Amino acid sequence: MSKHHEIDEATGVSTTGHVWDGDLKELNKPLPRWWLYTMYACTVWAIGYWILYPAWPTVNGYTKGMLGYSQRETVMREVQDGRKAQESFRKELAATPMADVRKKPEVLRFANAIGAAAFGTNCAPCHGRGAQGFSGYPNLNDDDWIWGGTIDDIHKTISFGIRGEHADSRAGEMPKFGIDKLLEPAQINDTAEYVLSMSKKSNDAAAAGRGSKVYAENCAACHGEKGEGNKELGAPNLADAIWLYGSRKDDVIMSIATGRGGKMPAWSGRLDDVTVKALAVYVHNLGGGK
Ligand code: HEC
Ligand code: HEC
Repeated sequence: MSKHHEIDEATGVSTTGHVWDGDLKELNKPLPRWWLYTMYACTVWAIGYWILYPAWPTVNGYTKGMLGYSQRETVMREVQDGRKAQESFRKELAATPMADVRKKPEVLRFANAIGAAAFGTNCAPCHGRGAQGFSGYPNLNDDDWIWGGTIDDIHKTISFGIRGEHADSRAGEMPKFGIDKLLEPAQINDTAEYVLSMSKKSNDAAAAGRGSKVYAENCAACHGEKGEGNKELGAPNLADAIWLYGSRKDDVIMSIATGRGGKMPAWSGRLDDVTVKALAVYVHNLGGGK
């Protein structure tokens, strides 16, 4: 490499003095103008940005910028505005008598929205995301209600729970006919056949005939003479096609033998009153409410 600069003969431009392979010389050409101007513009923009917006870390924080812009504050403000808007809706829902909620479209929409959210968090684990239910956990979309399907019935069920500790809990236990030896296995078998006959499922007619007497003496008091059920006692309808614990003969025998005794926790106290009310509206609105 030679150290001294010279003027290149062919172009008339001075060289940088760098030479390769004996005669390959580097011209000292200026940067293209467009490139330079772009860089100046970026520099000016960057300095402006540093002055206006939060930019540089400091020992105990960062430079805040003249505009006082903060994404965190923007989000906080939006959340607060949302809460404030919710607060006024919550007050209105609280003040609206249960029977009138459906008459106020805005309140109804709000109740359904927060009811759906609360349902997903608190109820879906047992009743399913779509409230479709599972064996032992009733479907809340149909119009078959064990404890009553008016909005007030539903509100009471949700508030105080079923067979739980709350003083106002829904109560009503079916005897454990098998476990407590109240009936012989043969009688349980016959009664199960009779129960199947009530909902027109295939059954052994002779056994069902014997079972009808056992039913009249032991079961009709709660489930009704024709198996229509009793909402005061939470005794399900046995003559329809909807089953809480299953319609196979084994399921029915198990129900008679053990009495089942499904439990649901009380939600008043656990959730605030407005949320419980919204849940009642939401569940009632799922389609099956009376
Ligand atoms: C730990 C499980 C569990 C959770 C959680 C739960 N439930 Fe239930 N729920 C049950 C069971 C079990 C029954 C049926 C009890 C029975 O009668 O045998 C029931 C019954 C009901 C009924 C009565 C249905 C009828 O046919 O009368 C309603 C309404 C209801 N649940 C709503 C809710 C709502 C709303 C939530 C959430 C706030 C919820 N449940 C959370 C277990 C649960
Ligand atoms: C004291 C009231 C009472 C009596 C008496 C009673 N039951 Fe029940 N039965 C209930 C209740 C309450 C349930 C719901 C249990 C639950 O939800 O966990 C039930 C549930 C059932 C079920 C389950 C229904 C389903 O949808 O899966 C069957 C079947 C049944 N009973 C049959 C009988 C038969 C048969 C007898 C008579 C041998 C009888 N019960 C006597 C109250 C009673």
